[in-house]
Amino acid sequence: MTDYGMLAKQIKALAEDEPHYIPVLSNASALLYENMKDLNWAGFYLMNKGSLMLGPFQGKVACIRIEVGKGVCGTAVAEDATQLVEDVHKFPGHIACDSASNSEIVVPIHSGGKVVAVLDIDSPSLSRFDEGDREGLEDFVKVLEECTDFSEVE
Ligand code: SME
Repeated sequence: MTDYGMLAKQIKALAEDEPHYIPVLSNASALLYENMKDLNWAGFYLMNKGSLMLGPFQGKVACIRIEVGKGVCGTAVAEDATQLVEDVHKFPGHIACDSASNSEIVVPIHSGGKVVAVLDIDSPSLSRFDEGDREGLEDFVKVLEECTDFSEVE
């Protein structure tokens, strides 16, 4: 099991040097991708002009814009709720950026009382993520919300 508490401490320390969302989310995607097993993508989509725009990530080239309500990421924004998807092929409207992906977890990120971004993590294995990952990643996102400056996100 990933030590999410340790990752949260590391990102908090990194954000103390520079809280701007670009370096913090870039390092967050690197920390998660390096420390979680069996992933093929870890990164962020940021709200921009009313839809989600690709942000810092690790993994293969990904789709650039996702409408709110579309795919797993857009559903996480529309419902303002974590999406834990055991089999992406069974998720209506799933957007396949990398055909290797089989399971996915998406956690909304808030600032100023609204969703400003999502954390998106994909795995080539079915049912890679469980309730422990949901809890750990939601706690990791709480730390991100506290230590990151999202004021320049539109
Ligand atoms: N699968 C996501 C799209 C983003 S990629 O996984 C990086 C979705 O359905 O929203």
